[in-house]
Amino acid sequence: MNTSLRNGINWVGYIDWTINDFHGYQTENGTTYNAYLIRDEKTALIDTVKSPYGNHLLRNISALTALEDIDYVVCNHAEPDHSGALPKVMAAMPNATLVCDKKCKTVLSKYYDISDWKIQIVETGNTISLGKRTLQFIETPMLHWPESMFTYVPEEKLLFSMDAFGQHYASSQRFDDEVPRETILQEAKIYYANIIMPYGKQTAKAVEQLSSFDIDMVAPSHGLIWRNYLQELLQSYKDWAIFRAKPKVLIIYETMWNSTSEMARSIFEGASIPGVDVKLIQISSSNLTRIATEILDAATVAFGSSTLNAGMLPTVATVLTYLKGLRPVGKAGFAFGSYGWGRGGPEAIDEYMKAMKWEILLGPLKAQYRPTPEIRDECFKAGKLLATKAKDLAELRNG
Ligand code: FEO
Repeated sequence: MNTSLRNGINWVGYIDWTINDFHGYQTENGTTYNAYLIRDEKTALIDTVKSPYGNHLLRNISALTALEDIDYVVCNHAEPDHSGALPKVMAAMPNATLVCDKKCKTVLSKYYDISDWKIQIVETGNTISLGKRTLQFIETPMLHWPESMFTYVPEEKLLFSMDAFGQHYASSQRFDDEVPRETILQEAKIYYANIIMPYGKQTAKAVEQLSSFDIDMVAPSHGLIWRNYLQELLQSYKDWAIFRAKPKVLIIYETMWNSTSEMARSIFEGASIPGVDVKLIQISSSNLTRIATEILDAATVAFGSSTLNAGMLPTVATVLTYLKGLRPVGKAGFAFGSYGWGRGGPEAIDEYMKAMKWEILLGPLKAQYRPTPEIRDECFKAGKLLATKAKDLAELRNG
């Protein structure tokens, strides 16, 4: 496997082929925990790996240099998928100084006993010379934790971007252009939607900051390293950060006895007009990760549920709870669904949509027991409204 980013700079991380649930994110294609070794007059390790894989990391480093020769261990982010191996690493590297920002030190002290570690606190603009190369630090608070930080190596035009620009994607390859372009850009989109989405403002700021840096390689903490599709990725990040909408409609629903699914299908038929991408998503045939990814660039959304015990179906509540946390903004839509003797499903969805500050296009569309021809006709018209609104929103955001 080619692990060389530049002469003297290597990937030394771990490929996790088995993980399929990353705190709720369904990582169907596994992930990697990336760590990088820079060998110069001084030697620096950039980030570590998840705790169980610390020995793999040490083996990879030892194949390149003696552990006693490591001068710096940079911690760009304290979340345990990157810091978990730090206790093992610091114990194995007697001459290493841990480099992190002030907030990171605080977080690390909550997770680990750091009393024996030599620690150097850095902040934006600080540098450490390794010899021919320099480490330059850029704090990126709330991208996606308070202590998150980038490390830039100007002489190599190389940015270590921790979670930002990552993908949960296990591969024997290390670079973006070694796998199909569509695959890697889609993986980056899934990752953004499920990890970075709530931090659009911080993302936009960081991408803006980066425009003043000369960068031709971005090495994130997960997935492949960007060298060929970097400009495309940065443009995508700009679009995602402001929720730039496509003329795209989602109809997301779950059904008990097919009444809500029949309503969903009528909405779908009404929304299927030229120039609009319409997707019908039954929750039990999809998953949270895929739905969040679809939401990212959708303009309008109809959410449907049958009524169960005066509320929505639990699977619909799960999706809405997950989405509310991801804070997708600027969407428009409405709720729909069936009920029997008691109301509640569509109304509960309507409340969620309002809480997310989405524009509500109409009151919940409801069918008692079965959708009548009149209700189906209403659903068809509501679908058309969703589609025309999607076109308008997409034009507005792109204009
Ligand atoms: Fe990959 Fe926020 O940790």
